[in-house]
Amino acid sequence: MAKKLKIGLFGFGCVGQGLHYVLNNSTGFKADIVKIAVKDKTKERSVSKDLITFDKYEILNNPEIDVIVELIDDAEEAFNIVSEALKKGKHVVTANKKMLAIHLEELYELQIKNNVSLLYEASAGGSIPIIRTLEEYFDNEELEKVSGIFNGTTNYILTKTINEKLSYAVALKQAQEKGFAETDPTNDVEGYDPKFKAVIIALHAFGLIIKPEEVLNLGITTLHENDIKYASEKDYKIKLTPVIQRLPNDKVGVLVAPRFVKETNQLFNVENEFNGVIVEGKFSGEQFLQGKGAGSYPTGAAVLSDISALSHGYKYEYKKHVQKHASNFTNDVIVNVYFRYNSLIDLNKIEFDEISEKYNGGDYNYIVGKVNLQTLLNNRDYILKNKLFISLVNDTISLKAKKAEATVNKEKQLINN
Ligand SMILES: NC(=O)c1ccc[n+]([C@@H]2O[C@H](COP(=O)([O-])OP(=O)(O)OC[C@H]3O[C@@H](n4cnc5c(N)ncnc54)[C@H](OP(=O)(O)O)[C@@H]3O)[C@@H](O)[C@H]2O)c1
Repeated sequence: MAKKLKIGLFGFGCVGQGLHYVLNNSTGFKADIVKIAVKDKTKERSVSKDLITFDKYEILNNPEIDVIVELIDDAEEAFNIVSEALKKGKHVVTANKKMLAIHLEELYELQIKNNVSLLYEASAGGSIPIIRTLEEYFDNEELEKVSGIFNGTTNYILTKTINEKLSYAVALKQAQEKGFAETDPTNDVEGYDPKFKAVIIALHAFGLIIKPEEVLNLGITTLHENDIKYASEKDYKIKLTPVIQRLPNDKVGVLVAPRFVKETNQLFNVENEFNGVIVEGKFSGEQFLQGKGAGSYPTGAAVLSDISALSHGYKYEYKKHVQKHASNFTNDVIVNVYFRYNSLIDLNKIEFDEISEKYNGGDYNYIVGKVNLQTLLNNRDYILKNKLFISLVNDTISLKAKKAEATVNKEKQLINN
């Protein structure tokens, strides 16, 4: 019979309370929360005072505790807690994607060095079991791509602005009232949160440890009604989607950006706070998972699933990292985008390789074409500052087509003359 674990819990907010509820209302798996560390001494708690502590060492130094569950909202302090726990030989479960994405390399090393397990299913996609699916089911198969909707707040806002024609401000306020969006929604609406999740998924899908600052994240803060009009005229919806894709040179391209999604795509009907993940395998083809990407009970359920896995001695094997499935990460790729701009200065900044559609109107201007991802990354601040909008027109990242030598020579000649 599996051992009944003793849990030391950090954080008793949305997810911490969700875990407490789910654990107490599950029939199968049993574990005891023996101590809960929180921060605010003035808050009323729904559990006995004896369970609460404000001193992290009451948990970290308690030899009775087998598992640390870290569910606080401060990424740096979370890293201090998690790394200290791993060094003390304790297994850890966390939901903190920001902490994980920023410290992935150190946390990977700490698990190996201390022979302990760190599980974090709830950190990417809430209740969607994407990490264990990648670790277990797709542990050998070469993957082509993982894409999807990894952020419930922005999906809620986009659903309301596009389907119900609510303004961005009203949709954001609704998301905050419903508890999907935080008071400071920057991490969600600027695309940082889905980027942290993409970085975590890239490790399990392709074996790469990528630094979040190397990955482009464009959010939905500059979305304008003209962009919605353009999308609606073409029967597209707009979704904020990370794309993590293997290229023919065995490198992997990653970005997070709004994207026009057609009715034929699985993500078209993933609405409101729901998340969806599409995994494309070399042999298995396309798999689609959909579920609640956030919320107290769904996230608590994902954390409980990790705790249960720990009770059976489960560890991530990181096979694709160990076997070096992909050679490296790259931003030297071509993406096909819609670009709404204000002036020629904007067009000179964001240099396109190819243009397939162009519109200059009194109301707004756009072009659709191919651009290097590195160019977008270099100009991210410019795009946001000038309220320009970029949306992917498909989910495919490609390598720059090599021009025939004769063409290159001819171009060189023209430049020299
Ligand atoms: N909410 C979701 O749906 C969701 C989904 C997936 C992942 N996550 C992740 O789960 C984690 C927790 O999110 P949440 O929504 O539950 O946050 P939350 O509702 O804001 O709760 C945060 C909790 O952390 C405690 N805390 C903060 N700093 C602390 C410290 N230094 N020591 C001890 N306790 C501390 C707070 O204590 P007080 O109670 O004293 O203020 C509070 O109980 C985050 O990493 C988040 O990204 C959340």
